[in-house]
Amino acid sequence: MIILHVDSSITAENSVTRSIGEAAIARLRTLHPDAEVRRRDLASDPLGHVTLGDLGDASIAEEFLSADVIVVGAPMYNFSIPSNLKAWMDRLAIAGITFRYSDKGAEGLAGGRKLIIASARGGFYGSDTRQAWLDHQETYLRGFFEFLGVTDIAFVRAEGIAMGPDARAKALEDAKTQAAAIAA
Ligand SMILES: Cc1cc2nc3c(=O)[nH]c(=O)nc-3n(C[C@H](O)[C@H](O)[C@H](O)COP(=O)(O)O)c2cc1C
Repeated sequence: MIILHVDSSITAENSVTRSIGEAAIARLRTLHPDAEVRRRDLASDPLGHVTLGDLGDASIAEEFLSADVIVVGAPMYNFSIPSNLKAWMDRLAIAGITFRYSDKGAEGLAGGRKLIIASARGGFYGSDTRQAWLDHQETYLRGFFEFLGVTDIAFVRAEGIAMGPDARAKALEDAKTQAAAIAA
């Protein structure tokens, strides 16, 4: 088994998503002791905005497709995702490799793998909140990866990170409990 571990938070050792992602990786290592974990840190090693020259390069998509499980640390930045994570995703969606258009419409080609998203946000965006419509982070990630055919998507989430130290600690603790319960 190959696990790809991707991070995008800029806050290094203070990062909630990095901490949750580590907990998910620890759980996966327990479940799959022989797994190989490959690492991509988009904050310390950014890819840069996608350019015309990048369009012929499938190496990032191939790295993604080589993995059976992908763990992505994805904080909410300005109601969406960090631009370094978007730059990675811009290199994943390649017609003929991760999706294709046929007479039936768009078809994802990247199914058969599991995606675990380590999510954190300062506020609350659940369906029972007034801000729910501003969640262009988790909704975007789900829509994008489902477009590529990845339907096995689990969110491990810490919300209310900006609501004070107690709320932050509890959210992180809850998320680590969720990570420890990852089934496969
Ligand atoms: C540049 C930036 C933009 C942010 N934008 C939002 C936002 O729009 N909504 C929100 O609830 N929290 C926002 N936050 C708070 C983060 O989502 C929160 O602190 C989260 O824990 C960040 O992930 P990290 O701890 O892994 O870095 C933002 C934080 C940063 C640094």
